[in-house]
This record gives sequence, structure tokens and C-alpha cells, in this order.
Amino acid sequence: MTVERTYVMLKPDCVQRGLCGDVIARIEHKGYRIVDAKMIQLDEPILREHYAHLTDKPFFPEIVEYMTSGPVLAMIIEGEDAIQGVRIIMGKTKFEDAEAGTIRGDYASSTRYNLIHGSDSPEAAEAEIKRFFG
Ligand code: CDP
Ligand code: MG
Repeated sequence: MTVERTYVMLKPDCVQRGLCGDVIARIEHKGYRIVDAKMIQLDEPILREHYAHLTDKPFFPEIVEYMTSGPVLAMIIEGEDAIQGVRIIMGKTKFEDAEAGTIRGDYASSTRYNLIHGSDSPEAAEAEIKRFFG
């Protein structure tokens, strides 16, 4: 077990639907701690960096539209094995695979509108915390 920091972002649908409190409660109840948090408005350049693995996809413009549709809540979350742990409580990316009891399984309305981002590796966590918190 290692204490890790991960980058978590509550996406525009989470903010607009008033689900931030529930999602943060799930993260805190699991034993993770908020180290820093801020509301930010994303733009296309930062999304091209953050979602570099998706810029070639035909649906990338729709991701930009979604992710710029309102503010996001950007957070640094810390705890034992927090990177993988947050991914587990988030639930799977694919709408059909996100299990009940996970954030996405309980609330996502599609593979796109899935409420939450969490870093998927130690390298990603470091780069994303730097990208959004400097
Ligand atoms: O967010 P996660 O790391 O689970 O998945 P990703 O593959 O890195 O994709 C990033 C985000 O792009 C997803 O969370 C979805 O919001 C969106 N996406 C989409 O709209 N359609 C897909 N087929 C795949 C991802
Ligand atoms: Mg990802």
C-alpha cells in the first residue's frame, strides 16, 4: 500500500445535475482526502492535452462540446492506493459495463456523459495534477 495523489475531475454533467456532494461523499467515505479543489472552465487546448489519446476519434468534437458545456470541479485526492481505488469507485468507461454501486454505474447517462474523471496511472496522475494545479 502506498499513499498516492490522483487527479479527479467532476465533469459538467455532475455539476449541472447537482451530484457533486454525493460523488465527493463516496470518495471521502472510502477514506480518501481532498487536498485541493477548484471550479474551472475548460477550453479546447487543455482538452487536446488532457484527452490526447482521443483527439483522432471522430467523436472528439463532441467530447470538447460536453467538457466545455459548463464548469468542472477539479480536485487532488490523496489516500492509500488512491489512483486505482478512485478508478474502482468511478466504475467502467463503457456505459454497459459500469456496475451498479459505482458512480458511473449509478448515475452515468451514456459512455460520454459519465460524471467523473480519475487518473489511470501514476504517470497520468503526476502529469494531470501538474496540468490543472501547476
Ligand atoms: O474517462 P476514462 O478514463 O474512463 O475513459 P477514456 O477512454 O480516457 O475516455 C475519456 C472520456 O471520453 C470518457 O470518460 C467519456 O466521457 C468520453 N468518451 C466518449 O464520449 N466516447 C467513447 N467511446 C469513449 C470515451
Ligand atoms: Mg482516461
